[in-house]
Amino acid sequence: MPEPTILRSTKGPVGTLTINRPQALNALDIDTLLALERELTALEADASVRVIVFTGAGDKAFIAGGDIADLNSRQGLAHYLEFAEIVHRVFRRIELCDKPTLCAISGWALGGGTELLLATDIRIAADHARLGLPEITLGLFPGAGGSQRLIRQVSPCKAKELMFIGDRITAAEALQLGLINRVVEKERLLEETMALAERIAEKSPLVLKLLKRTLANGADMPLPAALAHEQAMIGLVLDTRDAHEGCAAFLEKRQPTFEGR
Ligand code: CAA
Repeated sequence: MPEPTILRSTKGPVGTLTINRPQALNALDIDTLLALERELTALEADASVRVIVFTGAGDKAFIAGGDIADLNSRQGLAHYLEFAEIVHRVFRRIELCDKPTLCAISGWALGGGTELLLATDIRIAADHARLGLPEITLGLFPGAGGSQRLIRQVSPCKAKELMFIGDRITAAEALQLGLINRVVEKERLLEETMALAERIAEKSPLVLKLLKRTLANGADMPLPAALAHEQAMIGLVLDTRDAHEGCAAFLEKRQPTFEGR
């Protein structure tokens, strides 16, 4: 039986999805994207999982992009529309996931690889990671959400430079651009990512869910509407048991235990 293209595992409150096509540097074809969607759905439905980590098999690549052979083998608009629809749907599902998402990036994160990490909340790269949007060199442009997410996440002139030239950048450069949160030694990538994931998993999953929704919805609203949305959400949060638990724990000088209620 062939190896699954997406490996799903859990360790306590942290669920991990590993893109597992090392022979193609974990490039994403339609089947892999659909498997990613299925396994993400499973982790979303698992109440014991509070944080989701995305990573790639091996340390040569996180994801070397959309699968170029698969893309090139397709003929006709219908096939390309299908690819565009699926990749957009899956990356949007990742972006709007109610559970915090982390990305552990080892090696190449090119094209769709960088576009996937742009849809996650927190990104940790190994020191040998290389990121970039080389689609322009293939006669394409970053259309898996990349053009729209990048322009909103880094300065417009830097975003355009990355998209117009297609150069690969180092993890240190990506950190300087604010594209990733931190760079760690290659050998410590998963350990550091898990440690961060576990710290987030200690927090209230209910509050994290409402915070993620507040951030995602508010970002697309004018400030007065965004503030009104936040006001309604904090009203909800203040009424949770977790808020009472957090405040009581502070007053009683103990650690809180959040249950997501
Ligand atoms: N799609 C399909 N196969 C890929 C691939 C990709 N994106 N990237 C690498 N591979 C395959 C190679 O064809 C090669 O297969 P074979 O062994 O069968 O020949 C294998 O993975 C190893 O790759 P290399 O021999 O090229 O490894 P390298 O170390 O010399 O180079 C690399 C690594 C710089 C990442 C190089 O593989 C590369 O440039 N890959 C393409 C990167 C790219 O252009 N990505 C954007 C794709 S388009 C996109 O992403 C659009 C979208 O999502 C919508």
